Amino acid sequence: MSPAPPPVESTIDGLRARLDAERAAGRTVALVPTMGSLHEGHLALVDRAAALADLVVVSIFVNPLQFGPAEDYDRYPRDLTADLAALSGRGVSVVFAPTLAEMYPRGPINTRVSAGAVGEILDGASRPGHFDGMLTVVAKLLLIAGPDVAVFGEKDAQQVFLVNRMVADLDVPTRIDVVSTVRASDGLALSSRNAYLSTEQRAAALALPGALAAARAAAEAGAALPAALEAALAVLDAAPLLELDYVAVVDPATFRPAEPDFTGVARALVAARIGATRLIDTQLLHLG
Ligand code: PAF
Repeated sequence: MSPAPPPVESTIDGLRARLDAERAAGRTVALVPTMGSLHEGHLALVDRAAALADLVVVSIFVNPLQFGPAEDYDRYPRDLTADLAALSGRGVSVVFAPTLAEMYPRGPINTRVSAGAVGEILDGASRPGHFDGMLTVVAKLLLIAGPDVAVFGEKDAQQVFLVNRMVADLDVPTRIDVVSTVRASDGLALSSRNAYLSTEQRAAALALPGALAAARAAAEAGAALPAALEAALAVLDAAPLLELDYVAVVDPATFRPAEPDFTGVARALVAARIGATRLIDTQLLHLG
């Protein structure tokens, strides 16, 4: 017999009451924030959460604040039944799946978290307002669930940087834990948006991990940052169907573009459009 799906809470008061009772009994809470359309990458976050706390809360909410007007909010895949089936038997205590009206009962929100200057570069330059919207809903989720730890995926590296900054800047008493990117056997980073890709587009998407691997190989062979970036660009330039948004190397401490003579561990990032689908990927590089 297949395991039962986890229980669902759709109200803030219901979730708080449930978690308050657990905390009163001395149990710790881990939160995995998601927008649903769960894949093995999300399940790796859930497994990590289960190892870190007594209770695992998975939130499923497609947050309109983090989508631009021309983005895929309306067509973003939503299938709660499939998500609950994917979470069955994974040690999830409760799924928090609020409606739009539950999260934003007064309509357009008045108060937002600002992601600051790092929120305006790289993904933030292509997606104005995205990181403010993302941080606003993450702040709400942290305030609603009050978790001891919240678990995020490394693939969204700029998101992780900004969530860490928000938690530090606002003294939020939640530890942020990061899980390595889960990849398909051909190297493509798992993403809910991969579902949009045709077979041909998916093959083209392999240029993203390919470019990062080329940069990494160049760095491992002793290349400095500009040559490592060139190696990545050569792969991206040769790829069909791909419209490059950016390829960059940042200092992980600041998320600012690393200087050409940077040495140590840097983060390479790439974003590209394939048809109407925007994909991102990232890898650490050891320079010098
Ligand atoms: O990474 C995501 O899926 C979203 O940005 C998050 C953190 C769930 C906030 O909506």
